[in-house]
Amino acid sequence: MDPFRLAAPLLGALDPETAHDATLWTLRRGLGPRAAAPEDPILASVLWGRAFANPLGLAAGFDKNAAVIGPMLGLGFGFVEVGSVTPRPQAGNPRPRVFRLKRDRAVINRMGFPGAGLAAVARNLAAWREGGQGGLVGVNLGKNKDSSDAAADYVEGVRALAPLAGYLAINVSSPNTPGLRALQGRGVLEDLIVQVRGARDRACPRDPPPLLVKIAPDLEAAERSDIAELAVALNLDGLIVSNTTLARPDSLQGRHRGEAGGLSGAPLFDSSTALLSDMYRLTGGRVPLIGAGGIGGPDQAYAKIRAGASLVQLYTALVYEGPGLIARIKTGLAQRLRADGFTSVSEAVGAGRG
Ligand SMILES: Cc1cc2nc3c(=O)[nH]c(=O)nc-3n(C[C@H](O)[C@H](O)[C@H](O)COP(=O)(O)O)c2cc1C
Repeated sequence: MDPFRLAAPLLGALDPETAHDATLWTLRRGLGPRAAAPEDPILASVLWGRAFANPLGLAAGFDKNAAVIGPMLGLGFGFVEVGSVTPRPQAGNPRPRVFRLKRDRAVINRMGFPGAGLAAVARNLAAWREGGQGGLVGVNLGKNKDSSDAAADYVEGVRALAPLAGYLAINVSSPNTPGLRALQGRGVLEDLIVQVRGARDRACPRDPPPLLVKIAPDLEAAERSDIAELAVALNLDGLIVSNTTLARPDSLQGRHRGEAGGLSGAPLFDSSTALLSDMYRLTGGRVPLIGAGGIGGPDQAYAKIRAGASLVQLYTALVYEGPGLIARIKTGLAQRLRADGFTSVSEAVGAGRG
C-alpha cells in the first residue's frame, strides 16, 4: 500500500504547515517512497541544452530551503524548483498562514517567504551536488520583506546561487510580499532582468543557467503583452506561468475561502492555463514556458503542454493525492501523447491552440 494512504488521515488532521514540516522531516531521513518505474522515453526532452527525463517538476514553495532535493527527485519528478529564497533569513508572516480548502482541492497561503536565507540554501545545494546523483534543480529567488532595493536582493541571490542552479527563476508574482508584483510592470521588469542577467553572466561566464521570470495569473491584458514583448526583445530564457491567484472564484466551497493570500490548486487551473495560452500566442512560441496551476492529473498536465508549456509543475495536488500522483500523471501523459500520434513531449507543445 502507498504509505501516503496510511499517513493521509494523520497529515490531514494536522495544521497544514505542521503536516508539511512532518513531511519534510520524514523525507530528510530518507523515509519517503521512491519511484519504482523506469522513465518512459516518450517523456524525455532537451531544453536549454539540459536533459529532462520527464516534464513534470515540483513547483517552488515546497522545498524552500533546498533540504529535500534528492528525496523529491527520487519520487519521480523530472526537476525540482527550490525557494523562494531571500538573501537574509526571515520568519515570514504570523501563523496560521496556510489553509486547506479540501472540497475545492485548493490551498490559500500567505507564507511571506519564510526561509533560511541564501547562505544556508547555498550550503544545501552544494552538499546535494557533491552527492553526485544528478537531476535538474531550479532556484527561485525572492526578496526580503524589509529590503528597499528589490533588484539588489535578486542580484545578491544570483551571485550566491547561480553557480549551483540548473536554472534561475525571479519570482515577481507572490502576492504575500508587499510591492513584489509591481515588479511585473514593463519598465521595472526590464531593468530588473538586465541587472540580474548581468550578475548571472559575471557569476557564471561559462554555461550560465537559464533565467526565467515567474508571473501572476492576475495580470491584465496590457501587462501580458508588455511582458511577452519584453521576453522576446530581451531573449529571456523562459516564463513560469503561473503563481497563485488573488481571485476567489464563486465556486469555492471551503470555509477558509475568505482568508487572505494566494489561492492554488484546482480552482487556479483555468485562469493559469488561459494565461499560458496567451503568453504562448503573444511570444509566438519563441520563449519556453513552464506551466503551473491546478495540475491534479494527466489531463491537466497534457492541457498545459498543448497550451504551450514545455515543462509543467505542481504543488497543491500533492497535498491531497500524495506522491503516487507523480507516476499517475507520467503514465497518463505518455498514453495521451501516443493516442494523439506524438512521439515526444516537444511535438505536443502548443499543439492545442485554436
Ligand atoms: C504553500 C505554498 C507556498 C508557495 N510558495 C511559493 C514560493 O515561495 N515561491 C513561488 O514562486 N511560488 C510559491 N508557491 C506557488 C507554487 O509554486 C505554484 O506556482 C502554485 O501553487 C500553482 O501550482 P499548484 O496549483 O500546483 O499548487 C507556493 C504555493 C503554495 C501552495
